[in-house]
Amino acid sequence: MSYTSRLTKAIIDLDALVKNYQYISKLASNSDTIAVIKADAYGHDASKVAQALSSEVNLLAVAFMDEALALRADGINTKVLVLEGPFKESDIELALENNFALMLHSNYQIDWLKSTSPEFSGELWLKLDTGMNRLGFQVEQVDKIMAQLSTQQIKNLVLCSHFATADQIDCNRPVEQLEKLKALVEKYGCKFSMANSAGILNWPESHGHYNRLGLALYGASPIGDSRKSRPLIPAMTLQANIIAIHTVKIGESVGYGNIWQAQRDTKLATVAIGYADGYPRNAKSGTPVYINGSLAPLVGRVSMDMITIDITDLKHTAIGDTVELWGKNLNIDIVAQNSDTINYELLTRVSKRVP
Ligand SMILES: Cc1ncc(COP(=O)(O)O)c(C=O)c1O
Repeated sequence: MSYTSRLTKAIIDLDALVKNYQYISKLASNSDTIAVIKADAYGHDASKVAQALSSEVNLLAVAFMDEALALRADGINTKVLVLEGPFKESDIELALENNFALMLHSNYQIDWLKSTSPEFSGELWLKLDTGMNRLGFQVEQVDKIMAQLSTQQIKNLVLCSHFATADQIDCNRPVEQLEKLKALVEKYGCKFSMANSAGILNWPESHGHYNRLGLALYGASPIGDSRKSRPLIPAMTLQANIIAIHTVKIGESVGYGNIWQAQRDTKLATVAIGYADGYPRNAKSGTPVYINGSLAPLVGRVSMDMITIDITDLKHTAIGDTVELWGKNLNIDIVAQNSDTINYELLTRVSKRVP
């Protein structure tokens, strides 16, 4: 979209993002911190983020091949780890041609590797299921897989696993998962990677040769407002503008479905953002937005392109004023909690029509 008259936008602060990267890298100074930029860098524009981090990072990570190739098409030359590995046999060749590190998690991928490139000289990652039960080889399968790989492949191998509950500091599961991975790392003398954002922040013992930094890079916290997450700076500010102001009488309802009735004569602002932009439809009445230095509550149901805000208690609010939905002045976690979701989902669902 080149012409735009609507002022709804997601403002991305790339300097904040670089500072977040530097802050987290320092917390894990013996690890190589990978920038996880899958899902268009959690809605922040993967190529722009990769560009901004180009002098900081050695390795980027995306979910699948198409995302990795899109980075190359945009001139990003940094090595890329493809977290879900090859989806097709031809992905192996493409990985070699494009300097992608491939994650292997299933036997069919090992078969493809052996048939396409028995002496695959690129970097390989082996995804191990240490307890999340989502993706990866079982720990008991590793001996057999090692026997199938050549010495060259084992030399370039990183053992990788993923925490299921790294955000829960009182939980023993991360310790158990880590023990399983570390036993294999000792046995095979390979490099390893375990920690995601919550792992880096909560579990220093999980810092590996590589850590995989996603959410915290974008200034959102996977572990609430703890001492360690407080220095993070939100990189995305989602904003829109007031396009109408009107008053409803006590007892009148607002928006679709009669879900909110005015308890007093109420001054309402209609704001040009809705669920088609990625603002969550299940945001409850009362979810705050930030206008001219104050918070004001959402009232009524979120529509496709608009929301309504109770501005009765705000002074000097006018058509055209900017409304922040989340960002530097309004923690995205508050919106997530009011919408029965998580900050990850809100960030990644900001839609393409929001410039
Ligand atoms: C395999 C893997 N590693 C790392 C990450 C980054 O996690 P986070 O965003 O919690 O840092 C993800 C994200 O879902 C992932 O799937």
